[in-house]
Amino acid sequence: MHVVILETPADVGDYAAREILRGVDAGQIRNLGVATGSSPLSLYKVLERHRSSRLAALHAFALDEYVGLAPEHPESYHAVIHREVTQRLGLDPENVHVPDGSATDLAAACAAFEAAIRAAGGIDLQILGIGRNGHIGFNEPTSSLASRTRVKTLMSATRRDNARFFSDASCVPTHCVTQGLGTILEARRVILVAQGAAKAAAVASAVEGPLAGICPASVLQLHPDAVFVLDREAARDLTLQEYYRNVQEHGSP
Ligand code: F6R
Repeated sequence: MHVVILETPADVGDYAAREILRGVDAGQIRNLGVATGSSPLSLYKVLERHRSSRLAALHAFALDEYVGLAPEHPESYHAVIHREVTQRLGLDPENVHVPDGSATDLAAACAAFEAAIRAAGGIDLQILGIGRNGHIGFNEPTSSLASRTRVKTLMSATRRDNARFFSDASCVPTHCVTQGLGTILEARRVILVAQGAAKAAAVASAVEGPLAGICPASVLQLHPDAVFVLDREAARDLTLQEYYRNVQEHGSP
C-alpha cells in the first residue's frame, strides 16, 4: 500500500488525475472504474481539462447504484456518472456501465455486471472514495472481504451522509447494488482519494488498522498496487505520516 500526503483537496484531484492520464497515455488503462460522491469530482474536472481521443476511448464501470431509483432520477448513479464522467471526459455512453438497480431480477443484474467487467478484460484502474465508516463502493462495515457485486442494505449513517444530494433524508434509498470487495480487489490498480478531517479516522483504520470487515477499505491492504491519495486533513490520524512523506520524497531505489 502506498500513501501520498498532499496539502490541499485540489492537490489530491490534480495528483490522481495525473496518474490516470499517465496510464491512459501509456496505453495501460482501457477500462476505468469510476466512483460517485464528492471525493472524485475535482479529479474528473481535471481530466475534463485534458480531454483527448485516448481519454474518450475509455470504457468505464461504476462501483454502485441505488436500488429503486430510475436511471433518469437526477441522483441515480446512472445520472451522476453521465453528468460527471461520461459528459466531462467525452466518453461514448455505450462504453459506460452502471449496475442496474431498477432490475426486477437484481441477482441477475449483479451477475450481468460482473460478466460485463470480465468480458471487457477486467478493470485496469479503479477510482475509489471512502465513507466515514470505512466503506468502499457501498460495502458497508462487516461486508465479506471476498464479496462480489450484490445487493446491500445501506447503513443509516450512510443514508444521512448522502441526504445532502436529496430533497429529504427519507428520499435516500435504503438499498443499493455494489461491486463487492472481492470484485474491487481484482482491479489491476486502485487509487483511493480522500479529503478533509471527516475521513481521517476511516483512512487511519484502512491503512494502519487490522484487515477486518468492520473497516471494508482495509481490504486494500491485500492489493498489490493500491494508492491512498490524501490531503493533510484526511491524513491527520495516520501514525506513520513521517514515513509516508519520506517514501514520497525519496521514491523507490
Ligand atoms: C460512491 C461510493 C462511495 C463513496 C463514499 C464517499 O460510488 O462508492 O464509497 O465514495 O461514500 O463519498 P463522498 O466522496 O461523497 O464523501
